[in-house]
Amino acid sequence: MKGLILSGGHGTRLRPLTYSQQKQLIPVANKPILFYGIEDLIGAGIHDIGIIVGPNREQVREAVTSVTWDARIEFIEQDAPRGLAHAVKIAEPFLKDDPFVMYLGDNLLKSGSADFIRDFSESKAAASLLLTEVKDPTQYGVALVDEQKKVIVRLVEKPKVPPSNLSIVGIYGLTPVIFEAIDHIEPSWRGELEITDALHWLIQNGYEVRYRMVTGWWKDTGRTEDILEANRLILDTLKPGNQGRIENSTVEGRVAIGTNTMIRDGSVVKGPAIIGDDCVITGGSIGPYTSIGHHVTITRTEIEDSIVMEGTRISDGEKIAESLIGKEVTIEKNGRIAGARRYILGDSSQVRL
Ligand code: G1P
Repeated sequence: MKGLILSGGHGTRLRPLTYSQQKQLIPVANKPILFYGIEDLIGAGIHDIGIIVGPNREQVREAVTSVTWDARIEFIEQDAPRGLAHAVKIAEPFLKDDPFVMYLGDNLLKSGSADFIRDFSESKAAASLLLTEVKDPTQYGVALVDEQKKVIVRLVEKPKVPPSNLSIVGIYGLTPVIFEAIDHIEPSWRGELEITDALHWLIQNGYEVRYRMVTGWWKDTGRTEDILEANRLILDTLKPGNQGRIENSTVEGRVAIGTNTMIRDGSVVKGPAIIGDDCVITGGSIGPYTSIGHHVTITRTEIEDSIVMEGTRISDGEKIAESLIGKEVTIEKNGRIAGARRYILGDSSQVRL
């Protein structure tokens, strides 16, 4: 069995972060979201993985190849985001005649996909989907299952009137017959070749499309709120540890501190929280539910329920919450005009005062 991870797309709902970073590389608990998917597939016994890359392809390549994986990884270039089914189609020379698991690189799954993959590989189904109940099915691909609750009888992408509340989760068990199905579909209203339509074609042509329900949480990290929630969920399972130095400060709860990091001058770190390597926290309050990347300096600032990425400097930032702060950002007191705030913000930045 092979794995196909999708790491393309423009991530427009995550601007401005996605102007400079591929969305699947945004860190959750200091690890790119994409890496959770790669680890999950490897953990499920898949050691032959293709990664679809689009915009920022070099960035994805560089991040992935900076780690040694117990897998052979190949990168497959998609010229533009033309849909999930298009991604599958261009991966055909890599996938060949093997069954495979397609994994959306921005999806996180608490209990992983190993059970789902085992069930699929032991079955004779043409495809298998993971489903979960959602509040607003109009945002997802939606499945209608048969009365015996064994197979899927209907699939529809982002329906205005959903036939059920069962959403398709971004991990799909597929077999090569999907290539034939893709040849029979047309682009949807959003101009993309939808995998949901190809799967529906399989059902209509008598192929078995089975399913499993997700156990534990599932997160599609398309929006900032989702990333912060994913951060909270992952931090709740963080392995605590301290490789830094704590001076005159308190650290309580589930906290991981990286090497060469210094927590000093009456700082407080409340878990769950992770602080990367080479950080300096001076008189700061960090957490709960906060991830601080490597080489970050925080001085006299309170930060909770947030993600702060590599190389950022924050001093006298008062209280910061529910924030997603990119790399190499500076937040500091305005020394020039008393009482005035000074902003140098990129396109699509968001400030809530
Ligand atoms: C895609 C699929 C949709 C699925 C969702 C899961 O949607 O098209 O069927 O439910 O992923 O994350 P998109 O993220 O492209 O809106």
